[in-house]
Amino acid sequence: MKTDCYQMAPSILAADFYRLGEQLMELEQNGIEMLHIDVMDGMYVPSISFGFPVISTLRKECRMFFDVHLMIVQPERYIREFVDVGADSITVHVETCKDMNQIIDLIHSCGVKCGIAVNPETEIERVLPYLDKVDMILVMSVRPGFGGQKFMEETLKKTDYLRRLRKEKGYHFFIEIDGGINTRTKSLAVENGVDILVSGTAIFSGDISENVKIMGGSTYAFGKHSNR
Ligand code: DX5
Ligand code: ZN
Repeated sequence: MKTDCYQMAPSILAADFYRLGEQLMELEQNGIEMLHIDVMDGMYVPSISFGFPVISTLRKECRMFFDVHLMIVQPERYIREFVDVGADSITVHVETCKDMNQIIDLIHSCGVKCGIAVNPETEIERVLPYLDKVDMILVMSVRPGFGGQKFMEETLKKTDYLRRLRKEKGYHFFIEIDGGINTRTKSLAVENGVDILVSGTAIFSGDISENVKIMGGSTYAFGKHSNR
């Protein structure tokens, strides 16, 4: 069983936007190398978060790897722009993509990593045709759209299945989980094959430095410092 072989990716959705710069510096000082950036369009999910100006501003000051999670309809419209403003990886939802192969190729042709996200209600079989092409599968452990929701434990069947399949077939993708991660659910996720843990509320509520220490993790991984 893996114990510390996982990477934390704090989600800025739960940050205090008035103090965002300060909070990101605190993450970096505590060894965090990967930042999860949730983009929501009010169409695919009910809420609207933020977009290009915020990401490009952060890119100028921040060395962390930007793991951009697009919860938007027709994500192919904006891949190039997200790369231009500083994304190091782009994750699109399988539910939003008409031609997944084309989008994966588009993302790779922009020189960044590609992830595919899958909602709790969506069958994992939907991503199987792309496992040899993608860099990451993001298993949603809450319904996309809001931070602070309860972890859906049944989604761990998917991560465990992906881990077994990866071993059996020799694939190289990383397994990320997103939503409801705290000290308890973190351990469950790691035991079930997760490599990268996205966490908003548990990192940004209260003392960030303390939270990062408690959540642990190494730099194993997908996203080391950005080279952009
Ligand atoms: C949900 C987002 C998550 C969310 C995680 O749509 O994709 O990244 O911010 O937040 P917590 O850790 O609060 O569940
Ligand atoms: Zn996310």
